[in-house]
Amino acid sequence: MNDLLDRLRGILLDTGYTIDGVRERLGAVAAAALSREETVPALRATAGDDPLGLLIRLWWLGAPVPARAAPVGLPVAELAAAGLVAVEDDLVTAAVHLQPWESGGYVVSDRKVRPGDPALRPDHVVGAGGASANLAQLASRRPVGRALDLGTGCGVQVLHLAGRAAEITATDVNPRALELARIGWALSGIEGIDAREGSLFEPVEGERFDLIVSNPPFVISPAGRFTYRESGFSADGFCRDLVRLAPRHLSSGGTCHLLANWLHVRGEDWRDRVGGWLTGTGCDGWVVQRDVQDPAQYVELWLRDAAEQGTPRYRGLYDEWLGWFEAEGVTGVGFGWITLHDSGSLDPVVRVEEYGGQVELPVGEYVDEVLGAVAVAHRMSDAALLASRPVLAAGVLEERIGPPGAEDPARIVLRQTRGLRRSVRVGTVEAALAGVCDGDYPLGPLLDAIAELTGEDPSDLRERAPQALRPLIAEGFFHISTG
Ligand SMILES: C[S@@+](CC[C@H](N)C(=O)[O-])C[C@H]1O[C@@H](n2cnc3c(N)ncnc32)[C@H](O)[C@@H]1O
Repeated sequence: MNDLLDRLRGILLDTGYTIDGVRERLGAVAAAALSREETVPALRATAGDDPLGLLIRLWWLGAPVPARAAPVGLPVAELAAAGLVAVEDDLVTAAVHLQPWESGGYVVSDRKVRPGDPALRPDHVVGAGGASANLAQLASRRPVGRALDLGTGCGVQVLHLAGRAAEITATDVNPRALELARIGWALSGIEGIDAREGSLFEPVEGERFDLIVSNPPFVISPAGRFTYRESGFSADGFCRDLVRLAPRHLSSGGTCHLLANWLHVRGEDWRDRVGGWLTGTGCDGWVVQRDVQDPAQYVELWLRDAAEQGTPRYRGLYDEWLGWFEAEGVTGVGFGWITLHDSGSLDPVVRVEEYGGQVELPVGEYVDEVLGAVAVAHRMSDAALLASRPVLAAGVLEERIGPPGAEDPARIVLRQTRGLRRSVRVGTVEAALAGVCDGDYPLGPLLDAIAELTGEDPSDLRERAPQALRPLIAEGFFHISTG
């Protein structure tokens, strides 16, 4: 098998079946349509018998290609014996979905399901998609020793970890997922992945990792019909347990990044629900709700995901799912990121927030900084803050808005042009500080100078400013240099 995959890798690369090659071959319109799961423009763009067009039709679009026209050297009979294609009546059909991935390499999964296809098998192995890319973007870029990808599925997170982690362990409860992931890794030229079968942290009992990533089966449903998205745990229990158990598997200084869904339940603040998952873990934490959907939107999304719209079972499944949400008092479902960091502090800090803004990608480039800022804002005493030397974060702009000709603005906003690209309305003191703090002077004397300009009592300002500045430090508008 390894020899076959080596030869196939060579053919894929020689043919230009790479992300750039496919993009160029399809053109902007067909590529954009494909990202909306519409294949007609791509099928038109790849009509003809050129090898790259045929590979795209076969393995990305899932369309049969004539065996006689299969790209030169494609060992069709061997691929059929290995279960990667099926051959019938001089037509070759893909038995798997095999596509190049953004970060380089290939992912192999079950064929994409499209409207009108037969119902998915329960152990369907889903391909890499938007959620996979989100997690990859969120994960810290630091080189690490041991990394774990829990619920590896088609193995896409491993493509991102390779080269950054000295050792990679990948787990999944679905043996078919591991089988397909191994093929994808081989086609990507990645060796030495320790793939283990089992649920949650069972396969790595007693082991610790510097980095844990998981795009788990987070979908919350009454039935748990598909392993690739539903764990069979009740409600959001799988994500809760993942958060609670992950710290036991983090090395000192280690980080864990998860995607998750959580319930919004009548009479309960979702922040308390998810924040509660992190309480007692001993880790610093950052939870971001990126989106929230009402129960009907949520059910429609996942019925569409399994191509169930338009089928006779659609209404029944929709009704059952909605009825279950109603019985559980569910008012919505949150989607987001959870990051845990074992900082070793006896006073862990957890920030739970709602933030749907467009962020600079990849978040992994600055996620350590975000966690550090939250911890500094929480842990530094007022006296230490006054003695520290704040620096305005790079790329922060000030906006002043008010009636034309007015002496003072009605509103001052600080806006980040980098990182999370947050914006915040500030008072004149914070705005003045933003204008002068370059790390040369400690905060205390800077506040004294501002008090002189505004006519405020300096000691009053020293007393109230740290409280007002903490959120701006936590949100990355000011960096604190203690040197
Ligand atoms: C949404 S897929 C993620 C695949 C891939 N890691 C990615 O980022 O696209 C979730 C994966 O979790 C696996 N899974 C489901 N239940 C699990 C469990 N109890 N323990 C470990 N993995 C599980 C599924 O088989 C599936 O491969």
